[in-house]
Amino acid sequence: MNRRLLPPCALVLALAGCGGDENTLHSASHAESTITHLFWIVFGFCAFGFGVVCVLLFLGWWRRNEPSLPGGHGERAATGVVIGAGVALPIVLLVALFVYSDLFATKATGAPVKGSTQLTIDVTGHQFWWEVRYPGTTVVTANEIHIPVNTRVEIVARTADVIHSFWIPELNRKMDMIPGQSNPLLLDARTPGTYAGHCSEFCGLQHAHMVAIVIAQPRAAFSRWLAHNAQSSSAVSPVFIQAGCGNCHTIRGTAARGTVGPDLTHVASRSTIAAALIPNDPANLAHWIRDPQDVKPGSRMPNLDLPDAEWQALNGYLERLR
Ligand code: CUA
Repeated sequence: MNRRLLPPCALVLALAGCGGDENTLHSASHAESTITHLFWIVFGFCAFGFGVVCVLLFLGWWRRNEPSLPGGHGERAATGVVIGAGVALPIVLLVALFVYSDLFATKATGAPVKGSTQLTIDVTGHQFWWEVRYPGTTVVTANEIHIPVNTRVEIVARTADVIHSFWIPELNRKMDMIPGQSNPLLLDARTPGTYAGHCSEFCGLQHAHMVAIVIAQPRAAFSRWLAHNAQSSSAVSPVFIQAGCGNCHTIRGTAARGTVGPDLTHVASRSTIAAALIPNDPANLAHWIRDPQDVKPGSRMPNLDLPDAEWQALNGYLERLR
């Protein structure tokens, strides 16, 4: 291959999401398997068509000096090739692809039939994070969506502000989050694991750093997680209220009831912060609280300019919210 072509080819592959966690061809669910099959079938058809065209071009070049068939036979043969390979064959192939994708793929990946799911989770897009609620429980969390493995989960996708798009490439297709609409999406995972996805509709400055993580767990582990996260706090640290954090964030069971930012009742038990942009460790959390605009410019979290003592007390408090 021409060396000058290597960088653009690598860029195309990177942009297509190959070689990372978010690979649409690594299917981990029934719906995503259907999408993967559809991809390979379309790819196979296209590769076959491309191959046939290349062979015909080569034959035309190879036999360019041979005399054409006598008595108008050449013209009739050419008309036959145009009608057969240029009109009839594409119609048959495209109709077959349309029927397969419309009847099978769309059905398998579309909104789940009412009553066919075992768990519903409300996911709401915000600039620039995901609010996650488990209806019928008190559990509210952010960015990290726990689901039980081998369970049909209905995600109800909504937005609190602009259009976002929820997409976990290894589990199902994209689902737009449109103001005033509730869009259902089926999510299920065959094997326990962590499946990442990005917001896939441009929604503002930090669109590219709006990451969602789905954590598929065995049923017992999921039930334990849900029960633990349903617990409220008995009290909130005075520093949290004094610093104004409670105006935007909720600590369930306390006076901190803000709904602008993520629910922080169990923030220390999450593995990431800032919409899964950075790991949730003491150094990152402290940096994030001190200077969120340095970590994620354009995010809605303001710099609070806290005195050192208050800042340290706030770090200590948040790290205890397991
Ligand atoms: Cu949210 Cu892009």
